[in-house]
Amino acid sequence: MTKTITPAVITCKAAVIWKSGEPAKVEEIQVEPPKTGEVRVQMLYASLCHTDVLCCNGLPVPLFPRIPGHEGVGVVESVGENVTNLKEGDIVMPLYLGECGECLNCKSGKSNLCHKYPLGFSGLLLDGTSRMSIKGQTVYHHFSCSTWSEYIVIEAAYAFKVDPKISLPHASFLCCGFTTGFGAAWREVVIEKGSTVAVLGLGAVGLGVEEAARIQGASRIIGLDINDKKREKGEAFGLTEFINPSGSDKSVSQLINGVTGGLGVDYCYECTGVPALLNEAIESSKVGLGTVVLIGAGFETSGTINFIPLLCGRTVKGSIYGGVGPNSDLPAIIAKCVNKEINLDELLTHEVALSDINKGFEYLHDPDCVKVVIKF
Ligand SMILES: NC(=O)c1ccc[n+]([C@@H]2O[C@H](COP(=O)([O-])OP(=O)(O)OC[C@H]3O[C@@H](n4cnc5c(N)ncnc54)[C@H](O)[C@@H]3O)[C@@H](O)[C@H]2O)c1
Ligand SMILES: [Zn+2]
Ligand SMILES: [Zn+2]
Repeated sequence: MTKTITPAVITCKAAVIWKSGEPAKVEEIQVEPPKTGEVRVQMLYASLCHTDVLCCNGLPVPLFPRIPGHEGVGVVESVGENVTNLKEGDIVMPLYLGECGECLNCKSGKSNLCHKYPLGFSGLLLDGTSRMSIKGQTVYHHFSCSTWSEYIVIEAAYAFKVDPKISLPHASFLCCGFTTGFGAAWREVVIEKGSTVAVLGLGAVGLGVEEAARIQGASRIIGLDINDKKREKGEAFGLTEFINPSGSDKSVSQLINGVTGGLGVDYCYECTGVPALLNEAIESSKVGLGTVVLIGAGFETSGTINFIPLLCGRTVKGSIYGGVGPNSDLPAIIAKCVNKEINLDELLTHEVALSDINKGFEYLHDPDCVKVVIKF
């Protein structure tokens, strides 16, 4: 008879945010064993996304104490009951979206926002509880994960088994930023060959848009960023023209219209999180034909849309994770990374240990920084 060994509570280190805007504190937390349908994962790498900075500042929901992080890769340490898709030792990417394949949105083939495994803002797992605590006090999750911890518990439906041949830091980047941008030009909105594209903000998200635009055969890929160092990064991912709007007396849309014969572009992507740039993106796209994809999220989440430019036949589409379905679309992106059709080496600019997480936040201000990875 096989004896089932119940996994124990694990005490491990994690980066905890106690109060909105405070630095992270690396301390010991308790991570419960996985319940039914869940897995516990030992993290190998994690990374910082701009959205983590928002989370640490209480956006969109101020839940503390909390462990941020929604990008990472790790190895399954133990599995709960009824987990059939994963086993101990599997390499997995913890994701913030699942794909049931059966709900209205999954069946539509038009949306990756699954109703059964949604993007969660409660800081708790689907059963309404947390698997993390510190001296008995509940610690909130970030979305369905919390990757800045040596161990995490996640529903198996949100843990994506990845080809172990992929570079592990690259797998971490694919959990959010790069995939979001890539998918937004390849899945959420499919850029046609010969199209003109403008990308506002060349972080991992904007660079992902550029890479997909290059693969789709866009004729012009105009990148716009206030940081000149992003020109070189952009060129590694398909950028054909760079604009730095700082110091110009022209608006972003005037600058983009200026280099497109006054027409604007077919597709304009907002990847900065600066609310005012949504109107600029709309006015940078073609009357009657232009599409704007809104990806950026910022400290201010409200702004007024200028109606007249939008009424003039332009489309605005919001996008979470680039419209990428974990089961339907992610395997193709991962395969492109494994076979080097997409090379993410240029994204990895800084590495820190978990104990130096606050140095990671400082690195985000370095003009050369694109991605900071945490190596556990
Ligand atoms: N919708 C989603 O699913 C999703 C997923 C990931 C990230 N995001 C959001 O997308 C945005 C980009 O994320 P990231 O990780 O690439 O961020 P990032 O901070 O690495 O990159 C943002 C870039 O925008 C540039 N920028 C800032 N202000 C600017 C301005 N006024 N004009 C021009 N350029 C400017 C910065 O120099 C930087 O290069 C963030 O708002 C993030 O929260 C959304
Ligand atoms: Zn679904
Ligand atoms: Zn993110």
